[in-house]
Amino acid sequence: MNLVHNIGMEQNKKHLYAPSILSADFSNIESAVNRIHSADADWIHLDVMDGHFVPNITFGPKLVADLRPHTQLPLDVHLMISEPEKYVEDFVHAGADYLTFHLEASVHAHRVVQRIHKAGARAGLSIVPSTPVSQLDPMLPYIDLVLIMSVNPGFGGQALIPECLDKVRYLAQQAETHDYSYLIAVDGGVNRSTVEMVRSAGTDVLISGSAFFKAENPAEEVRIMRGK
Ligand code: DX5
Ligand code: ZN
Repeated sequence: MNLVHNIGMEQNKKHLYAPSILSADFSNIESAVNRIHSADADWIHLDVMDGHFVPNITFGPKLVADLRPHTQLPLDVHLMISEPEKYVEDFVHAGADYLTFHLEASVHAHRVVQRIHKAGARAGLSIVPSTPVSQLDPMLPYIDLVLIMSVNPGFGGQALIPECLDKVRYLAQQAETHDYSYLIAVDGGVNRSTVEMVRSAGTDVLISGSAFFKAENPAEEVRIMRGK
């Protein structure tokens, strides 16, 4: 089990902030992690891309494993890869606390979620902007996190598609009605200009790459994004 990294409290804490290291300098990951620690962010978001499910390529489980000893923060691994079922155990054993995969990338999402849980991590499910949120309905009782992509996945620095926030409102309503316990994350184009509407839609986890790594004062950025 990997669930020793400051996990537990967050279910009660609104507006967690998760910087995505996609926008960091990959040749100096240590400095990126220091920046995240000193800004008092909540999680570290790791974008895994395979050049197939999305056009871009980033990194695999080795980076997760290499990072693991350097932080107590939960590692939130976002798989933007085809056939995520091939890599579940690799990423969990590398140290992922949350492992999120795309509904569009896997026919047997229920089985993938079971495997993530069995391996010892929390399971997240994500959809791209063109996928209707109702397709998540059968999986809502089983997952720990829903990640709503608010840009087309593959790159940082894109503009948020506001219609995606309707999905967040729907998921917040479903959680309330059925007493589901998943966290709702929004990923893509979350910055000072958009964060207010992202938060007010009912988002729990704010994922942000370029805004965090470009900020002159990262700690202030985190406070502003949390709405404090
Ligand atoms: C995009 C990734 C995001 C990305 C967000 O496909 O999933 O996590 O890092 O970057 P910004 O915040 O720059 O839109
Ligand atoms: Zn992401």
